[in-house]
Amino acid sequence: MNVLKQVTQISHLRDARKRLPEPVGFVPTMGYLHAGHLSLVKRAREEAASVVVSIFVNPTQFAPTDDLEAYPRDLERDTALLQEAGVDLLWLPTPEVMYPPDFQTWVNVESLTQPLEGTKRPGHFRGVTTVVTKLFNAVQPQMAFFGQKDAQQAAVIRQMVKDLNMPIEIFVEPIVREPDGLAMSSRNTYLNPKERQAALCLYRALEAAQTTYQAGQTNAESLRETMRTIIHAEPLAELEYVSCADYDTLVELETVKGKSLLSMAVRIGKTRLIDNHVLEAV
Ligand code: PAF
Repeated sequence: MNVLKQVTQISHLRDARKRLPEPVGFVPTMGYLHAGHLSLVKRAREEAASVVVSIFVNPTQFAPTDDLEAYPRDLERDTALLQEAGVDLLWLPTPEVMYPPDFQTWVNVESLTQPLEGTKRPGHFRGVTTVVTKLFNAVQPQMAFFGQKDAQQAAVIRQMVKDLNMPIEIFVEPIVREPDGLAMSSRNTYLNPKERQAALCLYRALEAAQTTYQAGQTNAESLRETMRTIIHAEPLAELEYVSCADYDTLVELETVKGKSLLSMAVRIGKTRLIDNHVLEAV
């Protein structure tokens, strides 16, 4: 089994990176790993000769009202999982390494960051694209792996890589779900047993809309209404948005024609959950 090397400083990362067999696959994470992250590592192992993972709870993608300090962390467990998954190099930058006091440069993807999560979390994607650019610059991978669970994040990163000519192939891997359908997320840990049960309404709503689409309904508003009705029927759920949008541009549709994205954000108690289904063209 590979020995998992751990580094914090960028200079140490670069030294260790130089010795890794090419091509290098990279999985950026915020830690508190679950089966979704491990599926990204597995795919990276299949595609690349070496795998680098980063764990960094990035402060710039949290709103001042979000509880950054409360974000779940378990480095010992994460390290054991990554060792077992055959990761070669683990980068654990500190906030000081990523954002020294004179830091002042930001990366911003424009239109794609405006709808959906953008309306509810202003500044979030600017934090994501800036940190991902910094992580990419330091690791210099040939491939990077993201989850479809954060569908808008994946679209934004694909656009950024294209716009800025970053020589990195972006892989977007399917959502990993619990046996009852709940999408894996580090935030699920915040749910109490009643909320955990209520959280299934997201999957139910997406499944219902997808079934309706497969039965021939292509009117996007009707699909959105199907999802709304199911979320509103769950007393513990507070709907933030439902969307039926073009897969690439994220523009809301009138009629579903090509590849499309059903997505939603729902608060269950204090926990904000997102989920989505991709509709393939029929
Ligand atoms: O998806 C995440 O965990 C984060 O947004 C990422 C890509 C690691 C950037 O902080």
